[in-house]
Amino acid sequence: MTSPLIAPSLLAADFANLAAEVRAVEQAGADWLHLDIMDGHFVPNLTFGPLVVKALRKHTTLPMDAHLMIAPADPYIAAFAEAGADHISVHPESGPHLHRTLQLIRSLGKKAGVVLNPATPIESILHVLDLVDIIMVMTVNPGFGGQAFLGSQLPKIAALRRLIDAQNPNIILQIDGGITPKTAPQVLAAGATCLIAGTAVYGAPDYAAAITALKTAPATGPDLTPTGG
Ligand code: DX5
Ligand code: ZN
Repeated sequence: MTSPLIAPSLLAADFANLAAEVRAVEQAGADWLHLDIMDGHFVPNLTFGPLVVKALRKHTTLPMDAHLMIAPADPYIAAFAEAGADHISVHPESGPHLHRTLQLIRSLGKKAGVVLNPATPIESILHVLDLVDIIMVMTVNPGFGGQAFLGSQLPKIAALRRLIDAQNPNIILQIDGGITPKTAPQVLAAGATCLIAGTAVYGAPDYAAAITALKTAPATGPDLTPTGG
């Protein structure tokens, strides 16, 4: 099995030293940089917008993975694209026309992602898979770092793995929330290919060791094969 992509989430970094924190995870072996964009409306927290993304663009060559937790999202997508985000992921609940939103992201030459909240069913994205490069499964409720991993999402991850294998194996299956060396094996066993980690990387004394621990986590977890019936 190939090792998973690791995307440290800047949400857990020292916000007084963002440029240094970005360079540090790049040097430590990160694959992508995850950027949590929150508006205090779609989620009960506020972070940063396109100006900060643009400022950080100069400090890293890592793909910038923007997770938009804002509603509406459409009016800001061009701004994040221009700021240098490489991937732009949206929640289906953030606007009335998910298909149109994904078309917009693709039209700007960016990879398009959809994010499923813990209560959001797979069915909400079944008919847009041709426009999707990344599916992100939330294993916490969005809004904050450092929350406990929701094991209830493992069957959803496994079901998405089967769907991706059947319909478009190029889609990256990304997991966000509560990822640690303890929880990573379960999501990898369920079929994840990219792990987002805030606290587990930026809260660790040695970023490189933390990233290596996630990258080399074994894929071992409960058997999630449906039993039928
Ligand atoms: C939560 C964010 C996550 C968060 C993960 O809304 O989407 O990316 O930073 O933080 P940890 O890894 O600490 O759960
Ligand atoms: Zn996120």
